[in-house]
Amino acid sequence: MSVKIDMEKMVSLCKRRGFIFQSSEIYGGLSACWDYGPLGIELKRNIKDAWWRSMVQARDDMVGLDSSILMHPQTWVASGHVAGFQDPLVDCKSCRRRWRADDVNEDRCPECGGELTEPRLFNLMFKTFFGAVEEEAAVVYLRPETAQGVFVNFANVMATARKKLPLGIAQIGKAFRNEITAGNFIFRDREFEMMEAEFFVKPGTDEQWLKYWLEERFNWYVNLGIQKENLRIREHSKDELAHYARACYDIDYLFPMGWSELEGIANRGDFDLTQHAQHSGKDLSYYDPDTEERYVPYVIEPSAGVDRSALAFLLDAYDEEPDKKEIRVLLRLHPDLAPIKVAVLPLSRNEALVPMARDVHADLRQRFMTQYDDAQSVGRRYRRQDEIGTPFCVTIDFQSLEDKQVTIRDRDSMKQIRVPVAELKNSLAAKLAGEPLDVLPPGGRYWLGFPD
Ligand code: GAP
Repeated sequence: MSVKIDMEKMVSLCKRRGFIFQSSEIYGGLSACWDYGPLGIELKRNIKDAWWRSMVQARDDMVGLDSSILMHPQTWVASGHVAGFQDPLVDCKSCRRRWRADDVNEDRCPECGGELTEPRLFNLMFKTFFGAVEEEAAVVYLRPETAQGVFVNFANVMATARKKLPLGIAQIGKAFRNEITAGNFIFRDREFEMMEAEFFVKPGTDEQWLKYWLEERFNWYVNLGIQKENLRIREHSKDELAHYARACYDIDYLFPMGWSELEGIANRGDFDLTQHAQHSGKDLSYYDPDTEERYVPYVIEPSAGVDRSALAFLLDAYDEEPDKKEIRVLLRLHPDLAPIKVAVLPLSRNEALVPMARDVHADLRQRFMTQYDDAQSVGRRYRRQDEIGTPFCVTIDFQSLEDKQVTIRDRDSMKQIRVPVAELKNSLAAKLAGEPLDVLPPGGRYWLGFPD
């Protein structure tokens, strides 16, 4: 089990190692907007790839979509967001801080004790103007969820995908919410990325599909390394259901600030298709050729945040271990998620080692995301790779020049094996796919050579 880390320490690690920076930092930052650095972008891409692989490519009942962020403004009237996507807010009359009314228990400001205004409703959608004229008629919204892009394309996809229901349409993309109380690092942002699937089913089968997706999504996190005891499932009570939902479950993660939503799995019924059919005048029903019935499908929606998942994966992977007189910090990230899969480390900068180390690196980088590092002692370099979650380091030493063998060092156990260069790429591929370190390729052997 890994050690718990507080949010400040994670923010600092992410900045120090190049995972995540505050947006527009040189101008003082823009709150609740974040920039992903060289390692953060790899982590985020890996999360999205793992989701896409499991939700779309590995199934034959799901197809993908990439709809535009800006949509016809009627979309948000039909979806209920113009009228309903709002939070009650209160302002402090002294320090001017703004709070969500349901986050403050009394009529005094939690920050300074000042008097609070009466609650007012505040719509969380960002507005902008479409075209050259800044007038009310030209207002469009930045989408607060990707789901509506799927609903308005339901008929297009059904007409072209050559599939029957049950069928899902999956989408990954940016969403924007003018959150009143954003914060907790990348947990609640004003600009963020979502991974959403709208799974269209026959009414009456919806409850069983809701359970199915809850289990699938829970297992996705566990299979990618999140410890089960840090996850829980929570059913929404009737009074907290979103305006479109008949039922909803959250997969919660035990974040440093307590149990909080990681992903929502909702039964949206036929709310969205019915609304869009009414507002657009288009028929969005489905004709089932097997039963010869026509109906408006129900929708089960697993909806996850990329940023929030990245935070959960980072927090869960964080570990510290006593190591001689120091503490070894490591991210035990699943190999599929680790930003760098393999680091290539010549034992030193000695000129004799460079050609072979460069050759090994050139070969490995064709297949894996790699890093070449020859600065400082090899021990320091191992620590750096541990801290960014690199599963394997490959070390080239003087003996390698003689016997054409190199060392593979495992992040979690720090154990090392020695393998022929000719076997290296395949052996690493097998280990990244889960093969234990002590399964040796032909000509390989256990290695006690380098103390870590
Ligand atoms: N289409 C359904 C929907 O939008 P939601 O529960 O509001 O449902 C789904 O959002 C997921 O999106 C959340 O579980 C969370 O992971 C992520 N999310 C929502 N708002 C977010 C924000 N302000 N910052 C980061 N992630 C957010």
